[in-house]
Amino acid sequence: MKWTLFASVVLLASAHVLALLRFPCAQLVLDRLDPLVNPGAIPSPHLHQIVGGNSFNATMDPKKDMPKESTCTTCQFSEDFSNYWTAILYFKAKNGTYKRVPQIPNSGFDGVNGGMTVYYMQDGLYDFAQKSKVTAFQPGFRMYIGDVNARSRKDVERFRQLTYTCLDTINTRDPQTLDFPAKPCKTGIMTALRFPTCWDGKNLDSPDHMAHMSYPESGSFETGGPCPATHPVRMGQLFYEVIWDTSKFNNKDDWPADGSQPFVWSFGDSTGYANHGDYLFGWQGDALQRALDNPCYQTCTTLKSQNNAAMNKCAGKRVVNEDIDGWIKELPGGYQANYRK
Ligand SMILES: *[C@@H]1O[C@H](CO)[C@@H](O)[C@H](O)[C@H]1NC(C)=O
Ligand SMILES: *[C@@H]1O[C@H](CO)[C@@H](O)[C@H](O)[C@H]1NC(C)=O
Repeated sequence: MKWTLFASVVLLASAHVLALLRFPCAQLVLDRLDPLVNPGAIPSPHLHQIVGGNSFNATMDPKKDMPKESTCTTCQFSEDFSNYWTAILYFKAKNGTYKRVPQIPNSGFDGVNGGMTVYYMQDGLYDFAQKSKVTAFQPGFRMYIGDVNARSRKDVERFRQLTYTCLDTINTRDPQTLDFPAKPCKTGIMTALRFPTCWDGKNLDSPDHMAHMSYPESGSFETGGPCPATHPVRMGQLFYEVIWDTSKFNNKDDWPADGSQPFVWSFGDSTGYANHGDYLFGWQGDALQRALDNPCYQTCTTLKSQNNAAMNKCAGKRVVNEDIDGWIKELPGGYQANYRK
């Protein structure tokens, strides 16, 4: 089976009867740091948007207790001090300068400052019962999905579920594409990243930050496909949604004359195939396992929650000082669309 188009669920009405861990995390910081792929590097090669616990820094020693190191989190569930991050989207103007595309909250999360929506799922999105037993990640666990060098459909298909949705309204979910939408999108562009769900049961990380995880052997997580013998432990499906407010860049006169689209990732990819994301597990105690064992939707009695004001207030300070918000001549780190300086 190929990567699948299945997420067209509008998560609004009767939220209290649904079972699905879906929650907002406000923006923690925009910074050129990447403690997973480039630990210790200040700056890391490209710019990221990061959410979660405020102990986030360039190092993130896996032996440190993340919940203890943080004093707050930007996530709604206040026992979640994990860090979640992706690259940042830029608009490239006709005169060659770049402007950062702001993020907006997802459907149902008005008032949250940017950031992303995080899901942990026991079953495919259509099955709101979420009845399957899944294992929570362990302290020190981390993973990555995607390929920063992917520039073709073939390069990205092996990841199955790194997608874009051209948002007509905030609730649009289909169709999904593996590359940037080719036309202006009224309400913005949503990027979705679904991580693999089968763990080798031993390694908290691996050299490429992916080999300790696998997709199901046949079928998919959504269809209940079995995990391979090499990666037998069925985990919850971690899934990010990030919404980029491209609406102010929708004037076709400002778009490239050659018919291409004007958006580019902070590392220079203007195809969109190099969509990628990073995760450092950091839930307190057994909070995540508890939540997975007692499925809930936005109101989770098994978890402690905080309000938007508390989430937004946890925002941190950027470590790498550079202009990321002007009309800049090159992307932070010296990238240009499609090549590196
Ligand atoms: C990151 O934080 C840890 C403690 O939380 C600290 O030991 C380490 O020096 C910090 N690293 C950097 C680069 O700031
Ligand atoms: C480049 O184009 C943008 C968008 O039209 C504009 O705001 C900016 O001032 C221009 N910069 C230069 C140096 O012309």
